[in-house]
Amino acid sequence: MRTVHRCQECGGTSPRWLGRCPACGAWGAIVQDPVGPGGVPTAGTAPVAIAHAGADGSEPAPTAVGELDRVVAGGLLPGSVTLIGGEPGIGKSTLVLQALAGLAARGSRCLLVSAEESPSQVAMRAARIGAAHRNLFVVAEASLTAVAAHVEEFEPHVLALDSIQTVHDPEVAAGPGSVAQVRACAHRLVQLAKRRCMATLLVGHVTKDGALAGPRVLEHLVDTVVSFEGDRDHGLRLLRVLKHRFGSTQELGVMEMTGAGLVDVPDPSSLLLADRPAGVPGSIVAAMLDGRRPLVVEVQALVVETQAGRFPRRSTQGVDAGRLAMLAAIVERHTEVSLRAMDVYVSLAGGVRAADPGTDLAVALALVGAARNRAVPGDAVAIGELGLGGEVRQARQAERRLSEAARLGFATAVAPMRTPEVAGIRLVRVATLAEAGVVTGLS
Ligand code: TYD
Ligand code: MG
Repeated sequence: MRTVHRCQECGGTSPRWLGRCPACGAWGAIVQDPVGPGGVPTAGTAPVAIAHAGADGSEPAPTAVGELDRVVAGGLLPGSVTLIGGEPGIGKSTLVLQALAGLAARGSRCLLVSAEESPSQVAMRAARIGAAHRNLFVVAEASLTAVAAHVEEFEPHVLALDSIQTVHDPEVAAGPGSVAQVRACAHRLVQLAKRRCMATLLVGHVTKDGALAGPRVLEHLVDTVVSFEGDRDHGLRLLRVLKHRFGSTQELGVMEMTGAGLVDVPDPSSLLLADRPAGVPGSIVAAMLDGRRPLVVEVQALVVETQAGRFPRRSTQGVDAGRLAMLAAIVERHTEVSLRAMDVYVSLAGGVRAADPGTDLAVALALVGAARNRAVPGDAVAIGELGLGGEVRQARQAERRLSEAARLGFATAVAPMRTPEVAGIRLVRVATLAEAGVVTGLS
């Protein structure tokens, strides 16, 4: 078997031992590793013709959690390993329990290994949310050797481990939760899953800055990485696929945490718009895209004078801070509004994040409206990316966005010049931000 040296921080490899990882700069993180990339043992396989290599006939098993199945392209494949990452308290344990219950109800033997909660705690929760099923078993265990023994004896079709940070491999000297432990445990579990053709769900805790605690290398080892996000003060939860070996990473799942567990939200836009006050200055609705999924959300801006002697604040929730700085500069330069001595707050409803530049125009119009204390009509939405020259550019998949807005009853859309007509919504095409300000009555 070949030997490589692998960085425990970033997963990068080097042919010899080094004190410092050349890829990520971590000191003392490189260790000898007897396996190849992706944790696949390098010995003992022969090449096969690519035409005969695929299609082994395995079908994804639906978890019956509709929004989870949506993002993982139908369900869990036998032998696949899916990592579900999220901040503490976001609902990972609940999601996994519901997914196992759904699989169990369809005839899969499911084993939930909890290294954080006792079986009675899990059982109580399962009873409360209707997830108890005779095919679903639970065991509290933190030693990976014991987990492997349970798997050999019990032979589950599906294994879930909650969480990868709280199990430890007794053969690895490092402490639980350390990079070396997490990586070693994940590696062993991946091997176990592949060998037994057992679908495996791993729960992983994510730190505040959004990174999977410790090792990026976990993401390399598993087949699928699902990020479970949301504003903890708000019931809305978003499922995003960061990596998927068996399908698209463009799907967004939307769920709501209720008193009876997580429920699918088939119509997130309606939920997001439910609390919207109509006709308030600084509020405008954006028709955005998250992956492929259209979301119609309210953008709110507040602009107030900066206190004497202070630097102007730029505070944002849901919009990238760098993007907001750029949009504020465009507003400053290309409209009559001056934000120079103003504090600016921008927020998207429901803990939604707009990574989509197609929300630029809406954010800029919200700023203009807030500064001028003028409101846009409540039945208008805006789409479009802004260029530094104040020009309004095409938003990708405009029809998808506008159809969703029309479905929700919006009558008018302020949109880029070449936007195609969409049934049920009147387009007001604009070439520049200044023009958009005029047609919406803000400037
Ligand atoms: P949990 O799944 O334990 O989160 P994680 O495993 O990510 O830490 O659930 C987190 C919160 O969800 C918990 O504080 C209570 C709440 N919750 C509900 O509101 N309704 C429910 O039915 C359940 C099971 C949990
Ligand atoms: Mg948990």
